[in-house]
Amino acid sequence: MRFSTIAAALLPVGAAFAQQTFTVKVGENGTLTYDPPTVNAQNGDTIEFQFLSKNHTVTQSTFAAPCSNITTNGVVTGVDSGFQFVPANATSFPVWSITVNNASTPLWFYCRQAQ
Ligand SMILES: *[C@@H]1O[C@H](CO)[C@@H](O)[C@H](O)[C@H]1NC(C)=O
Ligand SMILES: *[C@@H]1O[C@H](CO)[C@@H](O)[C@H](O)[C@H]1NC(C)=O
Ligand SMILES: *[C@@H]1O[C@H](CO)[C@@H](O)[C@H](O)[C@H]1NC(C)=O
Ligand SMILES: *[C@@H]1O[C@H](CO)[C@@H](O)[C@H](O)[C@H]1NC(C)=O
Ligand SMILES: *[C@@H]1O[C@H](CO)[C@@H](O)[C@H](O)[C@H]1NC(C)=O
Repeated sequence: MRFSTIAAALLPVGAAFAQQTFTVKVGENGTLTYDPPTVNAQNGDTIEFQFLSKNHTVTQSTFAAPCSNITTNGVVTGVDSGFQFVPANATSFPVWSITVNNASTPLWFYCRQAQ
């Protein structure tokens, strides 16, 4: 399963806005999706991933290699939620969040499950 998303920043850095939290649903209705697939965040904003089905990850990649983790000298240096298992009968759902600290740099994510 392959799907990826981007947390981009198209607004001016340093502009005075209230901090926001963006919610991205992972695997809603059993689909292989992040919904919404993109958000435009600013410095200090939080992106909260809610895992709604199965057993997915939110793993940082690059644009050039969208389904690979980011490694430096063999060590994974990108951020990663780890596998978040959601039982079929779940009534509460795992959440994993990141704070955007350089909105000039687009962040890309994919799920590491399976192929
Ligand atoms: C899941 O189903 C609901 C209700 O039909 C729909 O509003 C929503 O867009 C669906 N989400 C995805 C990611 O398909
Ligand atoms: C979630 O998937 C990972 C990778 O396939 C696997 O190692 C792990 O056991 C799974 N977790 C559960 C609870 O099934
Ligand atoms: C990083 O990706 C490589 C290639 O897909 C994989 O072999 C390795 O297990 C991954 N590392 C982690 C910590 O997920
Ligand atoms: C979900 O099903 C498992 C296995 O039948 C059970 O142990 C667990 O209590 C159930 N959880 C909920 C929230 O119903
Ligand atoms: C933020 O990202 C931009 C674009 O990648 C980069 O040029 C800049 O040096 C970064 N700023 C900081 C403080 O890391």
